[in-house]
This record gives sequence, structure tokens and C-alpha cells, in this order.
Amino acid sequence: MLHLKRQLPYRPTERMNVVSYPIRDIVMEAKREEAKGKKMIYLNIGDPPQYGFQSFKVIADRVKSALDENWQGYAPSEGDDQFRMTVAKIEKCRPEDVFAVAGLTEGIDFFFHSFIGFGEKVLLPNPVYPLYLSKAKQFEGDSVFYRHDANGQIDIEYLAKKVEGAKAMVIINPNNPLGSVYSEKNLSEVVKICAEYDVPIFYDGSYDRLILEGRYIDFRKIARGKVPFIYGSSLSKDFSYPGARIGWVAFHGDKWSELKNAFFLLCNQRLSVNWEYQKAAAAAIVDPSYLTYITDMKDKLLQRRNTFVKMAEKLPLSFPVPKGAFYAFIKIETRKWKKDIEFVRAALKEGVVFVPGSGFGRQEDGVYFRTTFLPEPKIIEEAFAKIKRIL
Ligand SMILES: Cc1ncc(COP(=O)(O)O)c(C=O)c1O
Repeated sequence: MLHLKRQLPYRPTERMNVVSYPIRDIVMEAKREEAKGKKMIYLNIGDPPQYGFQSFKVIADRVKSALDENWQGYAPSEGDDQFRMTVAKIEKCRPEDVFAVAGLTEGIDFFFHSFIGFGEKVLLPNPVYPLYLSKAKQFEGDSVFYRHDANGQIDIEYLAKKVEGAKAMVIINPNNPLGSVYSEKNLSEVVKICAEYDVPIFYDGSYDRLILEGRYIDFRKIARGKVPFIYGSSLSKDFSYPGARIGWVAFHGDKWSELKNAFFLLCNQRLSVNWEYQKAAAAAIVDPSYLTYITDMKDKLLQRRNTFVKMAEKLPLSFPVPKGAFYAFIKIETRKWKKDIEFVRAALKEGVVFVPGSGFGRQEDGVYFRTTFLPEPKIIEEAFAKIKRIL
């Protein structure tokens, strides 16, 4: 028998070329600098526990008791009954409209997998959380971008020109990376346009409760009965527990029956989401002590945001002041830097890790980078003092 000798090293497939996650990809370079003895300040990732934020304690407590109760098997693929019922109450939909996912990351993956076909147009914000870019490429959709005005609101006139023929529109609110929080008026206008052109909405509410200025607006109330939408959220940010890997998507409106079947198939394929964490999520999202928890978290965040703004405003940088979540998307206002990655690498040499703006799909009109303002004020001050040297 003829044995062909394969060429080594083994090479990944062509389809790997579309896979990227710039928020973490930059860490490899940072680690190389760290290995040389450089102290690094990581401002690349929105991971609250890394910066001293305590996860909502009810989750860990309930995980422990759920393990004692032996919730260690495969959970139902679509999610634990109690979890789905609890989420359904918040969503004001039926439990069968809710799916448990391993972080909203998985919900986004399933959404693109099941709904966005080859060449189909999906409307994304620009700048956008990078996973959406990667998923649109992986499933060969056609990403079309809408933009924001100087106040970080969705530019309605521009959207109206882009919306026709879209299979879906993605809204991230509060927004990562901009930190903007859309007003009720802005969201109502978006819903009106989507209803007119029959474009359903995928609403990413990962940072729902993290509104630092202004009040929480329930998108479901604005959109219900006007346009079909899918609402997604998770425990990662609002409950400071990204490691739980628990989130949900809820289908709203009566046009989703086939898509829900598709979601079932995708859920079956990956068997289940950790059962003990679903039990914990069901307890956490309706626990009355959450109000105090989230108020404390927002107070801390506001203080950190204010320090960040004070530091950054002294430098040749411009950005919409973040009103929600914990990021800022910053434009460099000097001519020194022509490429974001060159600036980000220079910042690495100074010991600060940012994400290049192009990772969020933004590069045409300047040099941008994204930072988080999660660390305590003295670390933010230290980081911005360091980059002052290279601007
Ligand atoms: C806008 C947005 N959506 C979704 C996610 C995914 O979060 P998770 O999978 O932890 O729920 C993130 C994480 O940073 C995010 O910023």
C-alpha cells in the first residue's frame, strides 16, 4: 500500500482566515513584552472581575447549592425550564421563546448561523463589537454599516438610506465600543424605519443595566408589536460574571417559528449549557438585592469614567463621553500616527494594552483605538500618563 507522506507543519483551512478577535489577539504581543520584564496595564478587555469588581454573590452561592443538589447532568439543550420561565417573565414572552446560551457570544453565533445566508445583507453599527464582523464573514453575509452622530446616537437619515433589503439589523445598547446610550426617541425612530422596511432587529443588551448617565429604557416596550426582534443578554457584564458563560436570547413577535426550530437544532448539536449556572442565573436575575449591587457598581464605574475623561481630555484625543458600559472609542488628533496598529504597538512598548480601532471596523476617517475604563482611578491615571509620551 502506498503511504503518501504529508507535509508538515499541518496547515489550518482557508476558512480560518476570517476568524479573528482583536480584543484578545493583541494579548499575544503584550505577553511578549511582559516576558521581557515590562509591567503591563491591560485596557483591552471588558472583564470586570479582573479589575476588582465582585460578581453578584447570589450566583456563586446558588452554583454551590445547585451542585449539592446534583445538577450535573446535561441540561435540556434549549435551557433549564426554570431558567427559561424566569427569563420569560423579564422578557414578557413565553418560556418557549427563550433559549439559554453559553454567553451571548453563542447567541450571536447561532443567530448568524441560522439567519444570515450567503450574500445576505446585515446592518451593523460602525464601530461594532468585533464578533459581529467575524460572524458575518464566517457565514458569508454582506455587512453594511450604519453610523452615529457626534452625540453617539444612531444617524437616522443615514440608516434610512442603508436599510432597504437588509435581512436584519443589529443594535448594541449601551454600545460597545462607543459607550453611547441611545435615547427613547432615537430607538423609536429606528424601530419605525425597520418596521417600514420589514427588517427584524437583533438587540444586544449585554450592558443593559450599566447606564451611567440617563435612564434605562426598555427597548422591548418600544419595539413590541411594531417589529419582530430578538433580545439577547447575559450575566457577563451586568452581573460581573463573564466566566459563568450564561446568557439568553428571547424571540419576540410571531414570525420566528422556523428560526426557533433552527435554534433548537444548533442547541441540540452542542448538547447543553452548564446546568448549575442556569440555576444560579434563574436565582440571580430576580434577586431583590441586585438593585443595591448594581447601584454600587455604577457608582464605582462613574468615578472611574470621570477620572478617565479628565485624563484623556488633557491629551490630543477626541471621543464621545461614554454614558454607558465601560469603554471609550478614541480618535487620535495628532498627525504622528498613520496606522492604529502602529500606535497600539507603541503603547505596548510603554506598558499599556489597547485595541486598534480597525478591529471594530473603523479606519476610513482617522486613527482610533478602544480602551476600557474599568481599572481603579490610579491605574487609569498611570496608563494615560504613559501614553502622553507617544502622542
Ligand atoms: C456587545 C457585546 N456583545 C456580546 C458580548 C459577549 O459576551 P458574553 O458571551 O460574555 O455574554 C460582548 C462581550 O464583550 C459584548 O461586548
